[in-house]
Amino acid sequence: MEKKIILLILFLFSIFKSGHSVGRPMSVDVIFDEKSFSITFESFRSYPTRLILYQNETTPRYEMAPNYFNCSLVIGNRRHCSFHSDEPFSRLWGSIESKVCAREVSSPVEECSFDLSSLDYPFVTNLKYSNKPKTSGGDIVITGNYLRSRGGPNHILTTFDYMTSFVVKGNFSDPSFDCNNITVVVPPGSGYFEFAFDETGDNLFPFSYESPKISSTFFDGGYLILSINGDNFFTDKSLVEVYFDDIKQTNFIISVNHTQIQVNNVNRPDLGPISISVKVNEIPAEKNYTHCFPPLIISVSSVSNYSDGIVTIQGDKLFSTLNSSFTPSITIGNKQCTYIKSNTNELKCKLDPNQNGGKNLPVNVNFGGCNSINPHSVTLTYNTPTLSSGSYSNGFVTLIGTHFGKNEESFVQLYGNGINDNIKIDQLNVSSDEKNLTFKLPLLRCSTFNINFTRVKLVGSNMTSNTISISASSLLINVINRPNLSNGSLNIEIYYMDCPISSSSQPSITVGNSSSSTQCSTPSLQYSNSSFYVTTCSTPYGTGINKQFIFQLNSDTISDEYSYAPPNIENRKFSKGQYNITFYGNNFGNSISYIKVYFNGNDISSEILTLTNNQLTIKTLNSYENGPINITVDGIKMESLFNLKFPPVIYGIINKDNKTIACGGFITVSGKNLLSNGDEFKVKVLANYKNTTIIVQNEKILIVRADCKESQLSVSTYIGEDLGPNAILTYLKPMITVIPTIKNNKDGISISVGGVSLSGIIYASLVVSSTNVSLSCNLQCSLSPNETLYDSNPKLSSNETDITNSTDCLSCHSNSFVNETSGVLYLQFSSTSFHYDVKIEEIQLPLSPPSSNGRSSKLSGGQLQVFQLFVLVILLVLSSFTINQ
Ligand SMILES: *[C@@H]1O[C@H](CO)[C@@H](O)[C@H](O)[C@H]1NC(C)=O
Ligand SMILES: *[C@@H]1O[C@H](CO)[C@@H](O)[C@H](O)[C@H]1NC(C)=O
Ligand SMILES: *[C@@H]1O[C@H](CO)[C@@H](O)[C@H](O)[C@H]1NC(C)=O
Ligand SMILES: *[C@@H]1O[C@H](CO)[C@@H](O)[C@H](O)[C@H]1NC(C)=O
Ligand SMILES: *[C@@H]1O[C@H](CO)[C@@H](O)[C@H](O)[C@H]1NC(C)=O
Ligand SMILES: *[C@@H]1O[C@H](CO)[C@@H](O)[C@H](O)[C@H]1NC(C)=O
Ligand SMILES: *[C@@H]1O[C@H](CO)[C@@H](O)[C@H](O)[C@H]1NC(C)=O
Ligand SMILES: *[C@@H]1O[C@H](CO)[C@@H](O)[C@H](O)[C@H]1NC(C)=O
Ligand SMILES: *[C@@H]1O[C@H](CO)[C@@H](O)[C@H](O)[C@H]1NC(C)=O
Repeated sequence: MEKKIILLILFLFSIFKSGHSVGRPMSVDVIFDEKSFSITFESFRSYPTRLILYQNETTPRYEMAPNYFNCSLVIGNRRHCSFHSDEPFSRLWGSIESKVCAREVSSPVEECSFDLSSLDYPFVTNLKYSNKPKTSGGDIVITGNYLRSRGGPNHILTTFDYMTSFVVKGNFSDPSFDCNNITVVVPPGSGYFEFAFDETGDNLFPFSYESPKISSTFFDGGYLILSINGDNFFTDKSLVEVYFDDIKQTNFIISVNHTQIQVNNVNRPDLGPISISVKVNEIPAEKNYTHCFPPLIISVSSVSNYSDGIVTIQGDKLFSTLNSSFTPSITIGNKQCTYIKSNTNELKCKLDPNQNGGKNLPVNVNFGGCNSINPHSVTLTYNTPTLSSGSYSNGFVTLIGTHFGKNEESFVQLYGNGINDNIKIDQLNVSSDEKNLTFKLPLLRCSTFNINFTRVKLVGSNMTSNTISISASSLLINVINRPNLSNGSLNIEIYYMDCPISSSSQPSITVGNSSSSTQCSTPSLQYSNSSFYVTTCSTPYGTGINKQFIFQLNSDTISDEYSYAPPNIENRKFSKGQYNITFYGNNFGNSISYIKVYFNGNDISSEILTLTNNQLTIKTLNSYENGPINITVDGIKMESLFNLKFPPVIYGIINKDNKTIACGGFITVSGKNLLSNGDEFKVKVLANYKNTTIIVQNEKILIVRADCKESQLSVSTYIGEDLGPNAILTYLKPMITVIPTIKNNKDGISISVGGVSLSGIIYASLVVSSTNVSLSCNLQCSLSPNETLYDSNPKLSSNETDITNSTDCLSCHSNSFVNETSGVLYLQFSSTSFHYDVKIEEIQLPLSPPSSNGRSSKLSGGQLQVFQLFVLVILLVLSSFTINQ
């Protein structure tokens, strides 16, 4: 115990007394990263045990957590001491006064009086800063590792201004304060400097203020001052250099600290860009600035958009006095204007034609990237058209003016008192210099009208000229009708007359050589929107064409001509007995020597009996057939011919033998013009004073059917009310005249029986080898009595009469096929009956049946078969069937 106490006393004594019993730890290296570090020593030397970090010269960091060095690792002759702390390394801060505790290898005695500067110690790494400070100063944020491990903490040494220090913001004692992220307050200043985070002065980090920036320039031509606005110009002129196009400027001041420099007495007669550069305390601007001495535009001339135009721009600085080959590029609207020449105050350029023209187009003159200034905002407007005068001649208007452009996109508008609608004319003839144009004047009701001219723009607004007034000096008339020969009136359209009409404007005409004139009606509008006036003048009796007349209205006199109206026939009347014909109509004239009458192409003027202007009677000649009547009067032809049709003529009732009633009641009348319409000449047939039914009617034949079956018929004919031929007709007893061979095929048997008065058939049958095949029969009629139905060599059996003329025909048929070649045909009429031996002929059906007419085509000998009669009937109805007289 005593020994121990003695040892302890000895130990304490040794510390106090001898002081430096532990040697200064002399490191040879340090290895570190953000989260660890170890310091290396020679293995036999003293080594650190822990750190006592100080917040300032006198006071240790009380809040710091315990720390120690683990120096147990010895490799070879090197001892590696790794540092441990309960705090994160970002909290490893302390002033340069911080102490190191150390011990000797041989003794556990710790001595804590050693300066931190004696150690190899982690230094600043990963240094980054938020921004460079402006010359006006300001805060910057610096991040990195071990920023404050050997200095500060609230001030940072810099080489700026002889090692002054900058303030570091923040409370380092606050355990949450991040020493790897500090805010430094940089005072106003300029140029390059260095940071020394470590107060030993080792490890300097270069830094600088922000480079000067030019944001705008302004030249005051009056004071010859060029102001340069920007930043980081600092306050001390002696540190600032200003260059214009590499030429150092000396006459300047810093007119606003940091942000504005004024260069004085800038005498720059030339135009275009200069490059401005500023250097502040050796720091150049990152980008030089281009200042423009711009051209000045005061006025711009105009051009027509259709001709290549020379534009003249007036202003200042329009020509480079220093470099005459320095030429500008000029734009007007979005078009280039080709530079021609310029002097300081005037520039000329050539603008290509521009279909669209344009109004208020911006103008820019650019020298080397320097756009012009245009304080009065002058613009170019393609020239508006102007009208200076206009004249009318021979139907055409000529306008004189300027800038008419191309006719394709222009129009002229006519308007004025009395011209209701604005009249647009786009058929214009424009001269190549665009200074005159002509157009055909449309017919207007008034002689005086206003004109303006519009050049149409596809883009932008149209350009309309001023308005001028023009007179169409010459009155114009247009004859619009042909007066009747007598009591005629002439209608005349009047154009270009005074508008409005005065009541005294009453025109007159003088026809031919007449010494007297005729008043016309006061001109008036037919419709309120008519484009002309009309007047009506009565004409003297006359004939022919191209009659000269003088038209007079106020002081205007116009010569014109008219033709009389053509003759026309409205109707005709036949005299009793049709000895002569009277035509009623107009404009026949009253002189036989002027009228010519053609009938069917033949001149029958010599047959004229009487003539008045409305009535013409000619003698009827027997040779006349229906045909056109054509009249000319003094050479004037009819516009449409009159078709003269003669009344019907009935030749007679032409039934067979003039007494037979055909086919159960048909009566045939022959004649000509039988189709005459109208009650006046209607053809009518009565049988026993009763009406009959028309079966067939054409110009030459009329077939009617009498409904009356009395055996005697009194037949009479009429034309209108006039009685024509008549006859007494008789129904004959049935008579068979033709028995052809019976046709037999798979469809059955058929037979056509020709004869007279066959309408009363009661029963028909064919008897073959004691079988009785009954037949059904239809009556068919031949419509002409003299028609030969069969040739004269019919295949009749011996006991039949050969009568070639038949009017009636029975078409009989049965569905049964008969297996015989002969039989007996039995026909029963009410009063009589017939039976005939007949041959039965088998007909082969055609191999390839054209179904409907296969049967007729098979029938042989070219003989007209009875069943074809209906075809005949139809033909007769449809055509003019000629019969032998
Ligand atoms: C050091 O810091 C302590 C505590 O903040 C303070 O009391 C002392 O005055 C400071 N010493 C010096 C020399 O600044
Ligand atoms: C530094 O601190 C600021 C303010 O607290 C923070 O916004 C920023 O993210 C920090 N930077 C780094 C790298 O930690
Ligand atoms: C500009 O800065 C200088 C130097 O700091 C100072 O003397 C002067 O008053 C400042 N001028 C203005 C207008 O602030
Ligand atoms: C700016 O101008 C200066 C002097 O006129 C010149 O030396 C420098 O190269 C230019 N800098 C740039 C970025 O053009
Ligand atoms: C109109 O222009 C054409 C072509 O330039 C010219 O020949 C003509 O004489 C001009 N007419 C008038 C009336 O000026
Ligand atoms: C120009 O005139 C044309 C033709 O009359 C017309 O169609 C067009 O609308 C006009 N344009 C303007 C902007 O008035
Ligand atoms: C041209 O005439 C037309 C028709 O009267 C009219 O509408 C238009 O306003 C006129 N233009 C000018 C510019 O006078
Ligand atoms: C027309 O003929 C009838 C009968 O012959 C005759 O009386 C009459 O005078 C004739 N008319 C004319 C105008 O000749
Ligand atoms: C009518 O007669 C005239 C004179 O002969 C002739 O020129 C004209 O062609 C005739 N008209 C007709 C439609 O036949």
